[in-house]
Amino acid sequence: MDNIRNGRFKTGMTDEAAEYTSSLEADKIIFEADIKTNFAHTSMLKHEGIIDADIADNILCALDSLKEEGYSALVFDPSVEDVHMAIENYVTSKIGPEAGFMHTAKSRNDQVACDVRLVLREKIIEIQIGILEFMEGLVEMAGEHLEDVFIGFTHLQHAQPITIAHHLMAHVQALKRDYERLNDTYKRVNINPLGSAAMATTSFPINRQLTTDLLGFDSYMENSMDGVSARDFIAETVFDFVALSSTLAKICEELVLWSTYEFGVIEMADEYSSTSSIMPQKKNPDVAELARGKTSIATGELITILTILKAIPYTYNRDLQEITPHLWNAIKVTQDTLSIVTKMLLSVEFKVDRCAELAGKNFATATDLADIMVREKKIPFRTAHKIVGRIVNEATASDMAEEDITSKFIDDIAVELGFDELNLDDDLIQRALNPRENVRIRAVPGGPAPEMVEIARENIKLFLDEEFERHGI
Ligand code: ARG
Repeated sequence: MDNIRNGRFKTGMTDEAAEYTSSLEADKIIFEADIKTNFAHTSMLKHEGIIDADIADNILCALDSLKEEGYSALVFDPSVEDVHMAIENYVTSKIGPEAGFMHTAKSRNDQVACDVRLVLREKIIEIQIGILEFMEGLVEMAGEHLEDVFIGFTHLQHAQPITIAHHLMAHVQALKRDYERLNDTYKRVNINPLGSAAMATTSFPINRQLTTDLLGFDSYMENSMDGVSARDFIAETVFDFVALSSTLAKICEELVLWSTYEFGVIEMADEYSSTSSIMPQKKNPDVAELARGKTSIATGELITILTILKAIPYTYNRDLQEITPHLWNAIKVTQDTLSIVTKMLLSVEFKVDRCAELAGKNFATATDLADIMVREKKIPFRTAHKIVGRIVNEATASDMAEEDITSKFIDDIAVELGFDELNLDDDLIQRALNPRENVRIRAVPGGPAPEMVEIARENIKLFLDEEFERHGI
């Protein structure tokens, strides 16, 4: 069967060298795509009269039966370098040496590039659908918590009150960008390199538009050298996975923090928790931790891919074979992590009372106290900032809470700092320090006020409808 070496060499590779250079293991994933590529190419050769119709039909028939029999029908021995050779050997075993016509005007160089693009575009869509489903679940979850106040952080210190819904919808927006990034990348993946052959096309009058149409590509690559050597579409896709992973990692980190005794704002589902072999009281967020860890893998794969790609001379070099296993690994880990994080976050139970407690504590509402000074008394925000800063400083030092802040307390501090008395109404002060009120008056687009979050939810629902429909779901 090893007819491609017999001509040029007297002997085969050593087993060690053959194994070292083989891509068979990683090629499993492109098995079906390679059949499709061969099918489209052979159909085109037949259509253009480049090979005899009878021979073409025999080849197509053998490819059909391989598709039915599946990957296990292939025979592998050390002389078989990759799936392309194994498939050609299979066709040869079925129809004899005429199988060799299948390789007219085609090289494994354009073939592998074509196969990878075929598989990748499907994987991109699978991951995109996963993102849409996650967004859909989060939008629904947000709908249950529109009015539930929660604390927002900057520097992981209490910042300002928000709602649980507003926080969940922040993740939705990040996921939307992760989704759209993949849409854009898809355009550069879905281009046909077939017909580039080894690197300089072919002297046969092939019809590149026909294979492009048969394989459902948007267009074909317009330079054959670029066609066989371009792998930036892989780096770009893996970058998109890295971006998505960073959204997922942030969610995992929050789940770990939020489920601690100290935060105590969520209860993780038992299904996504572990216990300790010695400490019987433990409920550990192992799944979230592992997912947080695994979100680093795509980044590692991206660096590996970029490093392999760097400074490879035109055109095909065998180094390129080394890129695809990293792509497949990045896809697998991203897909697995997206799926588990989706289920894990959507099964979380928010402890709404604890969330509300945190929102009203620790002077997270202080910005609004400063805002009413600006609004009611027309003093510059920086002056108000200074007065409120001192109010919080003194209140915390003497263990005072929000409800202990009075107009008199404020004025004493204002005067001490060299400003006039403000004479703010006590009710107004308490309203400013109320987290629900803080949220209610942030009714600007993008804000946490329930009606604003509702608008954001409606917009996302429309987006989801359109996108699900585009994917035929
Ligand atoms: N297994 C190879 C790869 O993945 C297929 C192309 C082989 N081409 C070659 N000139 N040796 O890149």
